[in-house]
Amino acid sequence: MNHLISSMIAASALTLAGSAMAVDMPADGKAKCGACHAVDKKVVGPSFMDISKKYKGDKDAASKIAASATKGGKFGWKMGEMLPKGGMGATDAQIKSLSEFIAGLAG
Ligand code: HEC
Repeated sequence: MNHLISSMIAASALTLAGSAMAVDMPADGKAKCGACHAVDKKVVGPSFMDISKKYKGDKDAASKIAASATKGGKFGWKMGEMLPKGGMGATDAQIKSLSEFIAGLAG
């Protein structure tokens, strides 16, 4: 019985550690991009983490990501075509802060 309880505690501690490490999508991202993007998995478009890796090491990453997200189109992911500003009317300020968020993901 004791053993069962301690393994249950260990399992829930692991779950907590896992969710604390995962980066959450900012609210604007959920509202404007969440239909097609998630932080860590493909949805309709590539994950924000994969996009971050594509631009890793580029000092202009955030502005290039913002330019892509503003114009939309095809970026070589072969997942279709993104509408300008995601097609969901994100403002330039939202695109800018989300692009900085994406650029920072891969460290
Ligand atoms: C209707 C679906 C949809 C929405 C909404 C959407 N995207 Fe996309 N996005 C895509 C698809 C599809 C691609 C991949 C296109 C391709 O295959 O090259 C993509 C690719 C991207 C890329 C990759 C650019 C590159 O240079 O590789 C960025 C950055 C991006 N999206 C940002 C955003 C942001 C920020 C938002 C919210 C403001 C957003 N997207 C909303 C569908 C969407």
